[in-house]
Amino acid sequence: MAASAGSLLSVCVLCAAILRTGFGLHTASAVYGETIAIPCGQDIVEGLLFGKWKYEKNDGTAVFVASRSAVKNKFSFDDVPEYNGRLNLSENYTLFISGARISDEKRFVCMLITADNVFEEPTVVKVFKPSSKPEILNQPIFLETGKLNKVGECVSKDSYPDGNITWYRNGKVLEPRDGVVVIQSTKERNATSGLHSVQSSLQYMATKDDIDAEFTCAVTYHMPNGQISTESDLAIFDIYYPTEKVTIQVHSPRNTVKEGDNITLKCIGNGNPPPQEFLFYPPGHDEGIIGSSAYPIIDIRRNASGDYKCSLLNKNMIASTTVTVHYLDLSLTPSGEVTKKVGEALSVSCIPSASKNVSVTWLKNHKILPQPSFKNLQYQDSGLYECETYLLEVDGLRKKETLRLTVEGNPRLKLSKKANSDGKTKTITYEVEGFPKPEVQCTSNGNGGFLNKTEETTLSNGKYSAKIIISPEENVTVVCSAENKLGKEVRFLNVSAINIVDRDEPNGRSEDNNDHAKLIVGIVVGLLLAALVAGLAYWLYMKRSSSASKHVGKELGNTEENKKLEENNHKSEA
Ligand SMILES: *[C@@H]1O[C@H](CO)[C@@H](O)[C@H](O)[C@H]1NC(C)=O
Ligand SMILES: *[C@@H]1O[C@H](CO)[C@@H](O)[C@H](O)[C@H]1NC(C)=O
Ligand SMILES: *[C@@H]1O[C@H](CO)[C@@H](O)[C@H](O)[C@H]1NC(C)=O
Ligand SMILES: *[C@@H]1O[C@H](CO)[C@@H](O)[C@H](O)[C@H]1NC(C)=O
Ligand SMILES: *[C@@H]1O[C@H](CO)[C@@H](O)[C@H](O)[C@H]1NC(C)=O
Ligand SMILES: *[C@@H]1O[C@H](CO)[C@@H](O)[C@H](O)[C@H]1NC(C)=O
Ligand SMILES: *[C@@H]1O[C@H](CO)[C@@H](O)[C@H](O)[C@H]1NC(C)=O
Ligand SMILES: *[C@@H]1O[C@H](CO)[C@@H](O)[C@H](O)[C@H]1NC(C)=O
Repeated sequence: MAASAGSLLSVCVLCAAILRTGFGLHTASAVYGETIAIPCGQDIVEGLLFGKWKYEKNDGTAVFVASRSAVKNKFSFDDVPEYNGRLNLSENYTLFISGARISDEKRFVCMLITADNVFEEPTVVKVFKPSSKPEILNQPIFLETGKLNKVGECVSKDSYPDGNITWYRNGKVLEPRDGVVVIQSTKERNATSGLHSVQSSLQYMATKDDIDAEFTCAVTYHMPNGQISTESDLAIFDIYYPTEKVTIQVHSPRNTVKEGDNITLKCIGNGNPPPQEFLFYPPGHDEGIIGSSAYPIIDIRRNASGDYKCSLLNKNMIASTTVTVHYLDLSLTPSGEVTKKVGEALSVSCIPSASKNVSVTWLKNHKILPQPSFKNLQYQDSGLYECETYLLEVDGLRKKETLRLTVEGNPRLKLSKKANSDGKTKTITYEVEGFPKPEVQCTSNGNGGFLNKTEETTLSNGKYSAKIIISPEENVTVVCSAENKLGKEVRFLNVSAINIVDRDEPNGRSEDNNDHAKLIVGIVVGLLLAALVAGLAYWLYMKRSSSASKHVGKELGNTEENKKLEENNHKSEA
């Protein structure tokens, strides 16, 4: 331990000695343009008469520049044009040179002169000038990947001594590398000013990693206190790179495409700058259609469904997408205005044809109903039928077809009669069926004109009823006719005089049905007679058992009796 410490010490003594011999020369450093202070470099000796400064020219000759008397405290400058007005010499013999120039880099010698001796001490003057801020010139607009790009020339001017240029990418030094980083530097010296300019050009193989990369250059130069670096402004380049992937997009007004839409296919390459032209391949086109990045389809039809592709012009990098054009058709048979005869059959069908499975809804007069089917058409089947469907997935795609059904039929007429309780009138009621609504008119053989009737009431679709009140003085036959454009039906009804009880005939009979009607009338008459006999027997029995009986009209045509009998008759019919 002690031994090594000792040897270290001896090494240090040695190195101090070398320093003294090596730097036997003093150095005075100054920044260009400022004042150089050159101390004399030796102690003031005893018996000093005066001090003097000289410098040595390259050829070894000396040029005296200033002197100062030690006793008179006076100083003077020699007439050296280079130093006129620039010098000062202090009491301690330090020489000051203002406005330091490169040409001031000389060996100055301080001479101290006594009566019998001259002491000389040389000092080397060093002048430093900082470099201008480096600039990157001739920058390109973009760098292309995959090849050597000229990034620019870094220029820094007027330094002394010369500086060095270093290139940086994102703050890290760019070292030359074959085919990737190529740096060429040149230096030049201005002969008159003695100042140096440095320039360095950079060629660089760019990759996509260089997007947003910051390139700078810096100049490093010497100053009295050591090296100093100054950086240029940042240079950032647009990086051009080829397309590696192509994508295709469908631009449509909605998520889904339906017939009639205008859509645009967009082809996009991920290169920079993005490609402007593509080949489009609609279904069935293998050759491709050249176009810009947008391929519009106006008023698209269902047959345009299919796979659409696009690629770069060199047919590389194909992208594909499927376009489904939704559509919805509805076929209703029959449709529109349809007229059928009552009792006929009618089959209706509503068949949708769509890009997806859909179901249909039926409406009759705006109310939902199941799929109609008519085996035997009735008047109430008339109406407005609508068949409706829609595609849930596709906004606004709905269809409706309508069928206006009219059921027609010949007139069917029924007559019935009833004696009224007032005993003076009889009511004839008719019911008529048919469409178009039949016109009903009645006449009585006792009276030439049409019989007045009440307002017709609607019993159901296509079925109407009205009443006629008559007061026949004698037996009459009422004739009613119902007529529409399809035909005419005539009915007869025998109505007895008001003082005779009519057997109600719920159905008036046409002439052709007379025999059948007679049979019924016979049965009714029989029943009536039986009731009469029973009533008479009862009356006789009551008369015999009660001597204080009331006087009653002998005639059977009495209205009170009629009424009672009529009621009985009703009950027996029911
Ligand atoms: C000599 O004098 C100058 C100014 O008069 C002073 O700046 C300098 O420090 C002095 N040098 C020495 C070695 O005393
Ligand atoms: C410049 O580079 C050279 C060679 O690499 C080197 O010798 C010199 O010291 C450098 N100068 C500066 C100012 O960095
Ligand atoms: C589609 O484009 C045509 C022509 O540009 C236009 O007339 C039509 O209205 C557009 N159709 C739709 C549904 O926007
Ligand atoms: C698709 O159908 C329309 C008629 O609806 C026709 O004009 C057109 O040429 C057809 N397009 C293709 C590609 O078949
Ligand atoms: C559509 O209907 C057909 C037959 O009616 C059936 O085979 C098919 O699976 C249906 N499709 C969908 C998506 O429901
Ligand atoms: C039928 O009615 C009209 C008015 O409504 C009346 O003028 C006419 O006398 C009536 N005819 C009969 C036979 O009652
Ligand atoms: C009227 O009809 C009734 C039966 O309905 C009959 O008994 C009577 O004889 C008839 N009178 C005349 C005048 O025909
Ligand atoms: C109606 O009376 C006439 C005679 O007035 C007669 O010929 C006809 O058969 C009667 N009709 C019915 C249905 O009773």
